[in-house]
Amino acid sequence: MEKFSQDYSKYTDEDFLVWKTLFKRQMELFPKVSAKEYLHGIEVVGFREDKIPDFREVNERLGKITGWELNPVPSIIPNEQFFPLIAQKKFPATTWLRRLDQLDYLPEPDMFHDVLGHVPLLSDPHFSDFFTAIGKLGVKHLDNKWVIELLGRIYWFTVEFGLIDAGNGLRIYGAGILSSHGETKSSISKGPTHIPFSVKGIFEMPYENDRVQDKYFVIRSFEQLFNSLPEIEERIEKEVKAQAKHKNDEFSKIHLPEG
Ligand SMILES: [Fe+2]
Repeated sequence: MEKFSQDYSKYTDEDFLVWKTLFKRQMELFPKVSAKEYLHGIEVVGFREDKIPDFREVNERLGKITGWELNPVPSIIPNEQFFPLIAQKKFPATTWLRRLDQLDYLPEPDMFHDVLGHVPLLSDPHFSDFFTAIGKLGVKHLDNKWVIELLGRIYWFTVEFGLIDAGNGLRIYGAGILSSHGETKSSISKGPTHIPFSVKGIFEMPYENDRVQDKYFVIRSFEQLFNSLPEIEERIEKEVKAQAKHKNDEFSKIHLPEG
């Protein structure tokens, strides 16, 4: 993979203004709506409104806590690159920011999504271990499209669009929600459907990535998320076995005489 880096000197006044405007606007909402682990994460990684995060500083802080680091990328990367990076605790992050006239919507993730949305929670040990394990499972099954689809669903309904209710109401931890002003407000409102987290439920739920979500899965704790890993692995192994059996049956139909 081509080595890409964050050139901090290239950020313009508009970039700083975009970061400040978006950060301030979200921070006004976060104390009431985001997971406490995420809020704590913002503090420990040292994000502030007047400074676009410097990846070297973030890496130093995160490295000491959970060992994660930011791996600069130019844009979305394919699964073959994504899963191995996650497995090694290297989070692929873009280094550019949306323009001032794009504050509310951007079709592809920029640094505000990648960094403000994803990075704070990488400081939580249970979430960190869960995320790394998903990366490792992805590496193991990279050549199996169906398993990658299932892992994609898990990723989608947790890392990107997860909600948590630790006993005091719905809170947000998914990066796709936290980096969107509109969805930060709508996701925990009465409008969408909130479903208790279940691996089976997520495996059976295809996702739509071109609209605001109308269903969210709700965990009780990050420990619960981490503890769901054996079930995720078991269900994947079952799927792999079922695929092998199906292939075998098809082979027999073609190659073995009937009767
Ligand atoms: Fe994301």
